[in-house]
Amino acid sequence: MAEVALVALLYLLLLCYANGIIALTDGENAAALRALKSEWQNTPPNWNGPDPCGTNWEGVICTDSKVTSLSLSTMNLKGRLASDIGCLSDLRSLDLSYNKELTGPIPNSIGQLLHLDTLIMIGCAFTGSIPDELGSLLNLTFLALNSNKLSGEIPASIGNLNQLYWLDIADNQIGGSLPVSTATSPGLDKLTAAKHFHFNKNHLVGQIPPEIFNEDMKLIHVLLDSNRLTGNIPETLGLVSTLEVLRLDRNSLEGSVPLLTSLTKINELHLSNNKLEGSLPDLFAMRHSLNYVDLSNNSFTYSVAPAWLAKLESLTTLVVENGGLEGQVPPDLFGLPQLQTVRLRHNSFNNTLKMDTEIGPQLQYVDFEYNEIQNVAVGENYNRILLLLGNPACEAGSFLSSNKICKPAPTDASYKTSLSKCGTKSCHGHDQKLNPATCACQVPLTGELIFRSPSFSDLSNASRFQQLEASIWRNLSLPAGYVFICCLRFDENNYLNMQLQIFPPDGKHFKRTDIQRIGFALSKQTYKPPHEFGPFFFIADTYIFPGEGNLNSLSLGAIVGIAVASALVILLIFGVTIYALKQKRRAEKALEFSKPFASWGASGGESGAPKLKGARWFSFQELKMASNNFSEANVIGSGGYGKVYKGILTALGGSEIVAIKRAQQGSMQGGTEFKNEIELLSRVHHKNLVGLIGFCFEQGEQMLVYEYMSNGTLRDSLSGRTGIYIDWRRRVRIALGSAKGLSYLHEHANPPIIHRDVKSTNILLDGNLTAKVADFGLSKLVADGGIDGGGKGHVSTQVKGTLGYLDPEYYMTQQLSEKSDVYSFGVVLMEILTARQPIERGKYIVREVKGALETEGMNGVKELLDPLLIQLRDLDADSYASLPGLESFVNVAVQCVEEAAADRPTMSEVVKELEAIVASDKVGYGHDNSSSSVASDAHPYAALLKKGGASRGGGSFDYSGGFSVPSTVEPK
Ligand SMILES: *[C@@H]1O[C@H](CO)[C@@H](O)[C@H](O)[C@H]1NC(C)=O
Ligand SMILES: *[C@@H]1O[C@H](CO)[C@@H](O)[C@H](O)[C@H]1NC(C)=O
Ligand SMILES: *[C@@H]1O[C@H](CO)[C@@H](O)[C@H](O)[C@H]1NC(C)=O
Repeated sequence: MAEVALVALLYLLLLCYANGIIALTDGENAAALRALKSEWQNTPPNWNGPDPCGTNWEGVICTDSKVTSLSLSTMNLKGRLASDIGCLSDLRSLDLSYNKELTGPIPNSIGQLLHLDTLIMIGCAFTGSIPDELGSLLNLTFLALNSNKLSGEIPASIGNLNQLYWLDIADNQIGGSLPVSTATSPGLDKLTAAKHFHFNKNHLVGQIPPEIFNEDMKLIHVLLDSNRLTGNIPETLGLVSTLEVLRLDRNSLEGSVPLLTSLTKINELHLSNNKLEGSLPDLFAMRHSLNYVDLSNNSFTYSVAPAWLAKLESLTTLVVENGGLEGQVPPDLFGLPQLQTVRLRHNSFNNTLKMDTEIGPQLQYVDFEYNEIQNVAVGENYNRILLLLGNPACEAGSFLSSNKICKPAPTDASYKTSLSKCGTKSCHGHDQKLNPATCACQVPLTGELIFRSPSFSDLSNASRFQQLEASIWRNLSLPAGYVFICCLRFDENNYLNMQLQIFPPDGKHFKRTDIQRIGFALSKQTYKPPHEFGPFFFIADTYIFPGEGNLNSLSLGAIVGIAVASALVILLIFGVTIYALKQKRRAEKALEFSKPFASWGASGGESGAPKLKGARWFSFQELKMASNNFSEANVIGSGGYGKVYKGILTALGGSEIVAIKRAQQGSMQGGTEFKNEIELLSRVHHKNLVGLIGFCFEQGEQMLVYEYMSNGTLRDSLSGRTGIYIDWRRRVRIALGSAKGLSYLHEHANPPIIHRDVKSTNILLDGNLTAKVADFGLSKLVADGGIDGGGKGHVSTQVKGTLGYLDPEYYMTQQLSEKSDVYSFGVVLMEILTARQPIERGKYIVREVKGALETEGMNGVKELLDPLLIQLRDLDADSYASLPGLESFVNVAVQCVEEAAADRPTMSEVVKELEAIVASDKVGYGHDNSSSSVASDAHPYAALLKKGGASRGGGSFDYSGGFSVPSTVEPK
């Protein structure tokens, strides 16, 4: 025991240490997350390591080292919610929706999360009762526990949540009565901020207490249907004049319906399947708003159809089955302008059904089965469904008896997203479905979308459901048409159910973060369907991510056990790390002493220069002289690796300007690595790659000597710092040149090379503005015969690169391939278009361009173009004509940044596309390798620049590239 305590103490100390020194995550929060993880299977694969905030565990959002949001919708989590959730003291939003095997009780400790604002657990398998402690979460505004297996009663303490606007506990097994406040206890009547009471599909009993409603309330949706409520409908309901949807159906309510004349905003009124008595309630006061009314299956007294029925001008759907109505059907009923559906079977209507008068244009479905109608008069203007089976008019031998109106109801063709453009194509792979917009086979997020009270009843109106589809893909920021719906039906509770498929924007699968985002939008109701669809909920099916196993299932019981285990692991990691660092340093020292260059011949003089193709050996003295004793005045760039100096070599008869990169202490490589790099670079020759002239490895120095690029970096030109204006045609040429350089590295260098840090500061411009790719310091050989071994085609390695250019797939999988360079190059193309930095003022250029393209097409992209490209030209509307090939260029850029590497083109395909742009515009591009006069490259709009663009003034030359890693991201 003492040992356990000691280790636990050590563990705590370590955590504190970790917080101060390396980890970004608060210790208690990190421990709580680990405890949650240990109870769950299928946590996201990147839930690893001790630092959830620092290493961006998917679904975890931190603010100031504390977890503030946990968004784990549709992750296929299995197991229980550990009570350690209560230790995430700063948590504001918790979304666990659609994890169908998340089970066990909701821990009481959830009541400690005092900052919690949003709590969503829709569509899981939680059991037990709703903890009383939820009543402590005074800042809660959104509480959705629907579609679980919760039982018990509604805790009265929920009445304390006076900020709550959404309360959904529907579709559980919650019993007891609806709690109202007393002198000593809170109750639901105190929820005056609430707009939604969704209590339907539970086991609630007793009366609806009159005290539950008052005039301070702002409720718009009250759903109490499918419970076991008894007694009268309270008159106090009339006090809630904000009500839009009222569902009391499928209970055992009795007595007569009170006058609800103050409910003038009500759209949907469902009182069916109760034991209500008296006369049919007069709904005339609701005529301006009432769309859908269902009064079926009660015990109303027999009466002729009231006159006001035909005056409900907003009505779309009238359902009074088994309603005790008799006499003549009021003929003007069918003229209601919005009427779609009339379902009046099992009444006692008699005489003639007159439908030869004016008929509303939307009327689709008229059902008078099992009445006493003797005759029918239908005009030509009604040719939709009419059902009269079971009426005298249809009796055997009558002239109508063989007419379709006397036959059972046909199954009406309901809407389904069209796949006709995909022809006979079908998908076979597991879970794959046809994307209706692209006809690609992808794995969509599927689920059931359920509307609890739509204001319409016609399921065949394509335009209505197409609007629904569009609202979904728009709202979820997906490309147009990436939504499929089918299988529409009204279920036994009269909810409209449909199957929904949502397709990933690129690649076969969704990324976890997209699933989390979409799940949240649907569970938190930030997605809003068109108004006529009314309140909805969504139950996602389990989404299986590619390569998902059950690796991280680990169920250790005791917290102490976990803590001890984690402590040991952490100790081990620390130990190993320190050991590894020591070993590495020792190894480097050893290498330096072992003269790795010995194999190139004796070092120390020109006679002993290594026999390297192209690369020369320089002495330290030589480079010191060339750079004027490494003077500050000669510095043309700097970074984490050290500095770059301009140097003039005079030794070799005549003078030559070079760039000398001098590694500083700490960023040196081991001698062997340095040697390998030189060997590699000296083999690579291409007119679009910055050439290596030579190197120096002497007196503890490591230097590389490159050709000097007089016009600086592409970034400088785009930002105006070099005072060189590059016009559209030249930009295309620069893009093409850089693409050729990269294509050479990928496809022609032997062995192939992945650059790993393609960015606009690594594309340099020579005196002729020819683009050359620089900085292969980070380069990795491609696996085949390469440094890291591993599978062909990719290299598994630590993520390196520059923020804003990083290939997300590489970042996630750490599987490096040429396509990572293609992604970064796509970002560069977007910079060329917009002159913006990849991440500028918090906006990510890739998302901006893609978003603009998706929502507004090319016009959206034009908004983002570098103003200098347009503003300086003819200002007429068609000024884009001066940007020939713009659209193709944008297309190439967007293809390069496809989410899935497999969907991106290769560099040689990019070259082809850019070449096609050049070829199609014979007027202005000239040849890619033309030495167009530099004079004309001087900024032709200098005057305007001075006026308008302060930030585009001159500046220092930022020669990038290095031995090592200038600005890199290296997640654990
Ligand atoms: C609750 O919300 C208010 C207003 O947003 C905020 O000022 C307060 O700090 C919050 N309280 C807690 C415990 O988070
Ligand atoms: C129709 O029903 C009403 C009310 O029940 C009754 O008064 C009337 O006589 C009936 N008419 C016919 C033609 O059966
Ligand atoms: C179909 O639905 C749309 C949108 O709700 C509506 O405007 C239109 O009138 C409907 N068409 C028919 C024929 O019912």
